[in-house]
Formats: sequence, C-alpha cells, structure tokens
Amino acid sequence: QERSREGGRLCLYSNNFWTWVKFLRPILNSQKYFKAHDTDIIISTLPKSGTTWLKALTYSIVNRNNYSINQSPLLISNPHDLVPRLEFQINQEDLINVENTNSAGPRIFSTHVPYHLFSNSIHKSKCKVIYICRNPLDHFTSLRPFLLENEFENDGEPPLSLDESFDMFCRGIYPYGPFWEHVLGYWNANLRNPDKLLFLKYEDLQQDVVLYVKKIAEFIGLGFSEEEDDVIKGIVQLCTFENMKNLEVNKTGIFSGNIIEVKNCSFFRKGQVGDWANYLTPEMKEKFDKIIEAKLQGSGLKFKYSA
Ligand code: A3P
Repeated sequence: QERSREGGRLCLYSNNFWTWVKFLRPILNSQKYFKAHDTDIIISTLPKSGTTWLKALTYSIVNRNNYSINQSPLLISNPHDLVPRLEFQINQEDLINVENTNSAGPRIFSTHVPYHLFSNSIHKSKCKVIYICRNPLDHFTSLRPFLLENEFENDGEPPLSLDESFDMFCRGIYPYGPFWEHVLGYWNANLRNPDKLLFLKYEDLQQDVVLYVKKIAEFIGLGFSEEEDDVIKGIVQLCTFENMKNLEVNKTGIFSGNIIEVKNCSFFRKGQVGDWANYLTPEMKEKFDKIIEAKLQGSGLKFKYSA
C-alpha cells in the first residue's frame, strides 16, 4: 500500500505504481529488439499531441499510389491499427513479425519514448523520425479525459483530482519524463540533424495543414509533383478531424494494444487549439508559464496557446 501511494506520484491519473511499471517492459524490449531499416519512418510524440492525425497523414502520403482516397484503409481502420507503436510489440517475436509491416512501401511505426531512449538501431540507420508536439496546456487538458474515459487500471482507487495531476505535471512527474525534457530532446536533435528529424507542432498543422503535408512528403523523400495538388487536397480532407471522427470505425471500434484497450472514439475529442482555457484557471496558466519559460530558456522553442 505504501509503495502504491508513493507510486501515485508517477502519473497523472493512476495511483498505482505497477500500472506504469507495466509500460516500462515493452519500452525496454523495443529498445533491445527493434531493428530499424534505412527506409523506416518513425512517428514520435507525447500522447495527445496529434499522433492520430500525423499517422493518418503520413500513412496517406506514403500509400498514395497504392490506394485512391475512396479506397483508403483509413476509411475502415483506425490510424493506430495501420501504424503500430513500437512499445506495443512487447516480445521479440512480435518485433520480428513487424518486418512484414507495410511491405508495399516504407514501414511506418510510432513511439512515445524520449529521444534518448531510442534503440541504437534507430540512431544508426538512415530511417527518418517525425516528431509532433503540442502546447503543454492543451496536451495536459487532452490527456486527462482520455485516461478517464478508457478507465486505465487504477485498482479501484479514485482518479487524482485536476489540481493534483496538474501539480504533478508542473513538477515533471510523468510516465514519459517531464514534458519539457521530451520536447527539448527532439528539438535539439532536429537542430543537430534536420535531415534525420522533422520537428512539427500541432498548432502549425491546424493553421496550414497543406503546407505541412508537403513538408512531410519532402522530408521522407516522397515529395509531391505539381500535378498532385488534388491528391494533397484529398489526403487533407480524408484526415480532417470531422471526417475521421465520423467514420464508423472511429465511432464504435476498439484499439487493442498488448497492454491496453482504447475506444477509438477517445482519440477524437475536440481537435482544437486553446481548449485548456475551458478547464485551467488563469493562475494555473501563470504558474506553468513561469516553469516552461525557465525550462525552455535559450532554446528558441515557443508554443502557441490560442487559435
Ligand atoms: P483534443 O483532446 O484536444 O481534442 P493523439 O492522437 O496524440 O492521441 O492526440 C489526440 C488529440 O488530437 C485530441 O485532441 C484529438 O481530438 C486530436 N485529433 C485527433 N485526430 C485529429 C485530426 N484528424 N485533426 C486534428 N486533431 C485531431
């Protein structure tokens, strides 16, 4: 019980230390066993930063010559089923099985791990990494309902209050490490090697998704020709929040990873920039502003908090 209480400091929802230990083993396995190919694309994010959207866009860009928009597998499958997460392949055999994934084109995987926890094979190969982040307050605001809706294992204990979990977020107590360390790890990696890592922000995609679809395509070496303007429009339209949210598969389906089950609908909540203002007080914003300003000082990284 003591350990469980202490463990409550580890995450934003669960009071149970062991819930989160469960997430460590697959991370370690993916580090140990995953063998990146030079042509792989790794989508990396903190949860609730736009992973689903980026997966759908990248999958559509990569497969645009394999399927027309009205035959896209995204119409019947959740993006998380099409782009597997490395940490969900929890044993060696599963990781070897992914050798066959996306055999028609570059393989696409996702991960939530901090940059410094990538397997050596990702660092050493010529694979490309695309990172998307989101302003921390929208990230925090989006995560809580997601965890609550999916009733993440909590051993029957009540979830932490908003104030408690915000306090932990401010102190950097979080399953994937402090927010600022995650984003800065990828930000600095992009500065060091922009050909290896593309750094995106959810708010920028919301502002001009066509521009970023072109950037992603160029980055992975699959740039669009001038004749493909309609293809770009089709991809953007297919992947809009409204369109994806209203697909039958995303209204009713369940995504099963090896350690969790998630309702597909919970990946599509509001899809807005600035929703934090409906949940967090001006005092909370002020407190976090001070923290993030100090943590990001000198990095050049800034976030946009309203649309
Ligand atoms: P909100 O909870 O603020 O609505 P992730 O995919 O990393 O889990 O992030 C989920 C967040 O992205 C949710 O934010 C969700 O609504 C939003 N989202 C999902 N699909 C989207 C899309 N196609 N376009 C824009 N936002 C999307």
